[in-house]
Amino acid sequence: MIFDILTIFPGMFEGGPLGESIVGKARARGLVTVRVHNLRDYATDRHQMTDDRPFGGGEGMVMKPEPIVRALEAIAAQGPPAHVVLLTPQGALFDQAAARRYSLLERLVLVCGRYEGVDERVGQYFVDEEVSIGDFILTGGELAAMVVIDAVSRLLPGVLGNEASAEAESFREPVLEYPQYTRPQEFRGLKVPEVLLSGDHRRIARWRRKQALLRTRQRRPDLFARLQLTEQDLALLRE
Ligand code: ADE
Repeated sequence: MIFDILTIFPGMFEGGPLGESIVGKARARGLVTVRVHNLRDYATDRHQMTDDRPFGGGEGMVMKPEPIVRALEAIAAQGPPAHVVLLTPQGALFDQAAARRYSLLERLVLVCGRYEGVDERVGQYFVDEEVSIGDFILTGGELAAMVVIDAVSRLLPGVLGNEASAEAESFREPVLEYPQYTRPQEFRGLKVPEVLLSGDHRRIARWRRKQALLRTRQRRPDLFARLQLTEQDLALLRE
């Protein structure tokens, strides 16, 4: 899969999270291609300005439409048809379903917004969607683009060692994962729950399910409300 990134800070993508670990290896193996484009190269004025003052007045600067749209047009021909996403806190929330949807694409273009915003006409007429990675404000869309690339890449065939693991994890069913433990059996006086050492696989499965449900109810009542609980689940919660 090809990711094209449009940014005024291409240096943020040198090395960094996309050069290491699973995504780094996927790139080395040619499963993932990341291309970074400097928006300043597409500026039209002699100072290579990519931002300007807002019409109507107010604080801060707004990213100009020309560099972004010129960059989108220039890269359009460089590869297969692309889905274009603008990263902005004003976007629709990115979630696992969106990651899954993007993982089926051949090519994704990620436009990184900066400053106090991007000229509204970009979002309205020149991109397919506006996306936010969460209800918090970053200094720009660059980290958000990395988050999207990471979440999508791990869903691509061959990227994770074990094909099963990508989707076996939570969020198919919107429930949090059960607690995991490894050696040592006792760490600074803290013991691993006895049931996990029992070798009784039915008991272990029931304990894990119960912990997952309790944890989801406690930490993510929004997800818990959407769960379709079985009679067995309800019995576990009554125990
Ligand atoms: N730019 C600034 N904050 C952002 C966020 N939460 N998601 C996507 N892009 C952003």
